[in-house]
Amino acid sequence: MNIIIANWKANPTTLDEAMELFDFYLAEISKYQNIQLIICPPFVFLEELSKKLKARNQKSEAISLGAQDIFWEKSGPYTGETSTDMLKNFSVTHALIGHSDRRYKIGETDEVINKKIKAAFEAGIVPVLLVGEQNHGDDRKQILEAQLDADLAGLTAEQISKVLIAYEPVWAISTVLGAQPDTPESSLEAMRIIDNFLTNTRNLTPEAYLYGGSVNANNVADFLQHPKISGAVIGGASLRKDEFGKILKIVSNL
Ligand code: PGA
Repeated sequence: MNIIIANWKANPTTLDEAMELFDFYLAEISKYQNIQLIICPPFVFLEELSKKLKARNQKSEAISLGAQDIFWEKSGPYTGETSTDMLKNFSVTHALIGHSDRRYKIGETDEVINKKIKAAFEAGIVPVLLVGEQNHGDDRKQILEAQLDADLAGLTAEQISKVLIAYEPVWAISTVLGAQPDTPESSLEAMRIIDNFLTNTRNLTPEAYLYGGSVNANNVADFLQHPKISGAVIGGASLRKDEFGKILKIVSNL
């Protein structure tokens, strides 16, 4: 089953808009049985969206809520943070960890990312780890290996096998000036780098990865048709109803 993660980032700005978008998602996903849709709204909307999801009273596993970030302590003197215990109230199943917005705009370190992955496991939340180089032409192998080594430090092979790893080159994110999606071939090459690294250092080879970076209705099939790519992290296009509706339809037909 393909996984589609909708990363709303800091959008939309009102609860009404968030509810409307979510209603649309609920209606669309009910048409398909073969997509796991994970919606990651801003924290402030999680409560209402989770109520809505529960009220549907459908034992549907096809749609769930994710957090765009988590904090590693359960409670305490951490101004501005939202803990996993709090998120669990809203049936959060997944958490994005290490998104490049947080790595490069907010200064989140690999050490922090590592703590967050461990906290996610402790809370029973599936961590979605995003890795990728910042500029086209950067030493991708060196960067990916350094990120993985530090982000996954101290985790067991069993835990690592449960992390959803997303290759998301920062230069390919739609809001970056002049962004272009990576090619499927090039992203598969990045995934081979990850495969080799994890096989050599942790003795495990993930079955598949997610891709993120300017995914839209025109290119989603090019990525997801490869068995090694089992899903996508979608930012901008997940806020555009028509586009996102098309993406779901295309993915359901793969
Ligand atoms: P994009 O964002 O789909 O708008 O490129 C993806 C992301 O940043 O997760």
